[in-house]
Amino acid sequence: MFHEIGKDSTGHYSTLNAIVVPRPIGWISTLSEEGVPNLAPYSFFNAVAYNPPQVMFAATSSHSSGGLKDAVLDAQTTGEFVVNLATWDLRERMNASSVPAPRDVDEFEYAGLTKADSRLVRCPRVAESPVHLECRYTRSVEMLTNDPDDPNTVVFGEVIGVHIDERVLTDGRIDFLKLRPVGRLGYLDFVEVGSHFSMPRPTWGEGS
Ligand SMILES: Cc1cc2nc3c(=O)[nH]c(=O)nc-3n(C[C@H](O)[C@H](O)[C@H](O)COP(=O)(O)O)c2cc1C
Repeated sequence: MFHEIGKDSTGHYSTLNAIVVPRPIGWISTLSEEGVPNLAPYSFFNAVAYNPPQVMFAATSSHSSGGLKDAVLDAQTTGEFVVNLATWDLRERMNASSVPAPRDVDEFEYAGLTKADSRLVRCPRVAESPVHLECRYTRSVEMLTNDPDDPNTVVFGEVIGVHIDERVLTDGRIDFLKLRPVGRLGYLDFVEVGSHFSMPRPTWGEGS
């Protein structure tokens, strides 16, 4: 099978989503300029630098009422966002928070989640999530789009604070089987981290 991606590539959405897998889910909370809390999952999400630590998430298409999605608009206007870790126990509520709600809807309330104050930013954290990254917005990049009404925007932020619940640690290290993060596959499918393995990094030297 071979696809040539033409100008109208919307039909390839599900194929691309099923190929670039598994994708971590950045569960992004923000506060609008008007003070409305906002929460939504973004699987176009990753860590992109260590020093200083930086993350990105990307919004495709527009808000249901037009314009940028809330997470993007809020990050740009307030300069802050929080990444909450989506876990197995929270999968249904994470999914519920993706509802295309009007801008004045608090998705924490809609999804039945509790807000916890952040330390360094004003946007709330998902109290039920075991890990949070408090982020300072640094920049966004407008990517190519085939429809100006459907912008593709990458948002970058510097991680300025990290919360980790002690219950997901074993000997001071994050224990993935306690954490049970969920990630995105294609179609309507997700993955849960239920096993993992280690490999030493190769070194260049004797015997190479
Ligand atoms: C697991 C999951 C991952 C998602 N990933 C993205 C994504 O990477 N980019 C995007 O624009 N929308 C994504 N969505 C859809 C958004 O969550 C949805 O459009 C949401 O309403 C945006 O909310 P906001 O306007 O409050 O930011 C995803 C939905 C789910 C359930």
